Amino acid sequence: MRNNDGHEAHELLLEVKDLKKYFVVGRDFFGRPEKFLKAVDGVSFKIAKGKTLGIVGESGCGKSTMGRSLLRLYDGVQGEMWFKGQDINKLSNREFDKIRPSLQMIFQDPYASLSPRLTVGEIIGESARQHGLVDKAHFHEYVLHIMDMCGLQPHYFERYPHEFSGGQRQRICIARALALKPELVVCDEPVSALDVSIQAQVINMLIDLRQSLGLTYVFISHDLSVVKHISDDVGVMYLGNLVEYGSKEDIFRETLHPYTKALFSAVPVPNPHVKMNRIMLKGDIPSPVNPPKGCKFHTRCDHCMDICREIAPEYREVKPGHFCACHLYNSEEDTKRLIAKDEEEKRLAEEKRLADAQKPLNKFKATVVDKPVGKVKEVVGDTYNKIKEKVKSVVDKKSKDEHKTEPEQKDNGGQE
Ligand SMILES: Nc1ncnc2c1ncn2[C@@H]1O[C@H](COP(=O)(O)OP(=O)(O)OP(=O)(O)O)[C@@H](O)[C@H]1O
Ligand code: SF4
Ligand SMILES: [Mg+2]
Repeated sequence: MRNNDGHEAHELLLEVKDLKKYFVVGRDFFGRPEKFLKAVDGVSFKIAKGKTLGIVGESGCGKSTMGRSLLRLYDGVQGEMWFKGQDINKLSNREFDKIRPSLQMIFQDPYASLSPRLTVGEIIGESARQHGLVDKAHFHEYVLHIMDMCGLQPHYFERYPHEFSGGQRQRICIARALALKPELVVCDEPVSALDVSIQAQVINMLIDLRQSLGLTYVFISHDLSVVKHISDDVGVMYLGNLVEYGSKEDIFRETLHPYTKALFSAVPVPNPHVKMNRIMLKGDIPSPVNPPKGCKFHTRCDHCMDICREIAPEYREVKPGHFCACHLYNSEEDTKRLIAKDEEEKRLAEEKRLADAQKPLNKFKATVVDKPVGKVKEVVGDTYNKIKEKVKSVVDKKSKDEHKTEPEQKDNGGQE
């Protein structure tokens, strides 16, 4: 995606800016959303055409939600998704349907995503026919060609999914996606349900197809060796955020983020003479409903500092093309600026809180005290003014009493 000097070298296919997907997990008495699970909480990245972005992270960190959001499989996804120059998150459903074939997904469980009542040929070709990519006359020939690319025998055409192994089923899923002539394919743990020997076959097939068809992949996996094998760029997710992103070489050789370091330290080294320095992560991943304040990783980080508990680190380009969200890489100026920004935000929040608390009082004053309107004013105007004067004199007297100093009071008391 980048030259050595950090400049863009390939045509950009997808740019995601501040992507968010919050699930509603609690509602108030009136049924209004009240509590949210922030599965994806502001993710930004770019993918060049023909490249593979690997996404890694612990279970529950939001990888699948992010992948599905890219294909608009959820409502209420916020952020921008620029695909070939247009923000597909802003398109109406009807407009998005036209480009839907260009964005396809391969799921983890191949069996669950295949209809048991359709033959392999129908499964692979049906959507392509519906989208007008192939007519009835050429359907058979078209599907056989795709099956051939995916290593499926022609006589499988009339057979049903239950007659196949896990690896063959995943090939059927891949063929179904490819029949739509996609440009971007989101592969969500495509091999994790397969036997290790079959995993390698399917991965190598995906790599060949990417080459021959010019495909671009978002490849989601918790298997770091698979990600290392297939990816050009790698993004590391933690509790809904990207904490590190860069080229595969940068991420694996010059790992920056303490979380990425801990993840990588758990990968077994195939050399008995190399001692593993495993970094044990403390505790479980916190709940995305109530994530920790400041850096979301601070509850498990060995390098945690005071600032980490209070202020979320910025996700920024620490080295050309290498992004990281960690206070360890702040300059002194960065830290000062973040602290000042945090104080300003707190001040504004306090101001808003006070203004909100004043709102009902101001409303009462505006409607009852300042504007007794129309007839009400005519009828009660005099009485109202008398009451106001009375109240004013009582308040003034009280305030005078309060301002009397103690010695004066004592003196007065002595005279009496
Ligand atoms: N439909 C949903 N409603 C509410 N919460 C959801 C929904 N789908 C996912 N989540 C929550 O969002 C968070 C992220 O889930 P997601 O499936 O994206 O994680 P993941 O990184 O893909 O995990 P895994 O590696 O186990 O597949 C989890 O806390 C999950 O419980
Ligand atoms: S910001 Fe602080 S707590 Fe978070 S990863 Fe960096 S050092 Fe650890
Ligand atoms: Mg998942």
